[in-house]
Amino acid sequence: MSEGAAKKEEKPRKFQAIKGTRDLLPPETALWTRVERIAQEIFTSYGFGEIRLPIFEQTDLFARSIGLETDVVSKEMYSFEDRDETSVSLRPEATASVCRAYIENGMQQLPQPVKLYTMGPMFRRERPQKGRYRQFYQIDAEVLGGSDAPGIDAELIEMVMTFFERLGLEGVQLDINCIGDKKCRPKYVELLRAELSKVKDKLGPDSQRRIETNSLRVLDSKLENEQRLIEGMPHIADHLCEECAENYRGVKKELELRGVKYRENWRLVRGLDYYSRTTFEITAKGLGSQNAVCGGGRYDGLMELLGGPPTRATGFAIGEDRLILSLQEAGKTPAAQGRDVYIAWMGEKAYAAAIRAAKDLRAAGLSVEFPPVEQKFGKALGQADKLGARYALILGDNEVASGEWTLKTLATGEQAKLTEASLLESLRKGKTVSS
Ligand code: HAM
Repeated sequence: MSEGAAKKEEKPRKFQAIKGTRDLLPPETALWTRVERIAQEIFTSYGFGEIRLPIFEQTDLFARSIGLETDVVSKEMYSFEDRDETSVSLRPEATASVCRAYIENGMQQLPQPVKLYTMGPMFRRERPQKGRYRQFYQIDAEVLGGSDAPGIDAELIEMVMTFFERLGLEGVQLDINCIGDKKCRPKYVELLRAELSKVKDKLGPDSQRRIETNSLRVLDSKLENEQRLIEGMPHIADHLCEECAENYRGVKKELELRGVKYRENWRLVRGLDYYSRTTFEITAKGLGSQNAVCGGGRYDGLMELLGGPPTRATGFAIGEDRLILSLQEAGKTPAAQGRDVYIAWMGEKAYAAAIRAAKDLRAAGLSVEFPPVEQKFGKALGQADKLGARYALILGDNEVASGEWTLKTLATGEQAKLTEASLLESLRKGKTVSS
């Protein structure tokens, strides 16, 4: 069959976005831009610089960092063999990549700590529901190198709380915990495993499996019938070594000094393996069961695991989709962005003047809609209304000949006749225009 014949037989087909992914459209994207701009402003004021990372990496980077037994690595990564037969994965989070980049780019030579933030899509093959997507967006911040002074964790938490406050996020609740380090945690995990084993038969299959693979994660269980049993388990706070206990006291004191309200939650263990000492999570209103808008903590051992020098580090990631959802539920949506000026023009001479005016107003930062073909004035004004324009600049050949242009304020219907120069000047300066 010739290529042409094959093409002819191809039926048109409609495509849909893949399950768990979605398009973000205007005007909602204006809220995304606003959130990202404010994050940039606040993070910069805390001395953070932006890092942009690849969207895929070697699968091993995530397996080593996040942990083989975690849900993210064992079930949720989008992995594929590249042509040279290395396994690569779409990033499920950013921390592992930030550490890889820190080591690869010799950032340990820079003044420490190095403070970095990044924003962008992450990929996890989870069951989609409200606030849970397979492609979702994170705003991530990491502090790498330097000491483990409690002030570093506290300042990081202060920064994200300041950001949420500035956005007007409602029902913000910060939970913190200390999960010990490689000295004291193994002993606690052993004790926890022994205690959990005693009640194994009363736990569901997931928790039963986790007793062996990752006992700490059993504390994360949301199953109603497991709660009473889990509440009776030993608390890690009673089994911390003196250094970790001292550090945890320090973090709490530093948060208090900064006026950051927190709640201690001994069951907050987080779903990724790299954490040590401080862990935290922030929830917000209007999100149902997927109400964590931010998660983070210290991960002092990760850099070494990835072949780097011993490096202290701490960080967080905000789920931007959930943050936006919560803001929308609270009605914090910016008004749809209308145009400042709609240019209603008719006639050849008016067209030349309209091109000039559009260029001039856009250069002054105004949003201008300039129809490419002439329309009757009535139709043009209707169009200006639909687009939510503030002003219609009416330009016919008569206006051009007389040198007096007409500006209509669409909300009031008021019209003003002004010379070209004074009309453009008033619009540029954002003045209310009247004759
Ligand atoms: P995480 O808790 O896995 O931590 O994710 C952080 C946030 O990303 C969550 O609190 C949630 O808001 C959002 N998120 C996660 N999965 C989804 C999903 N499927 N759909 C929508 N939002 C989601 C991390 O990723 C760590 N890297 C955070 C960190 C940075 N720790 C230290 N530095």
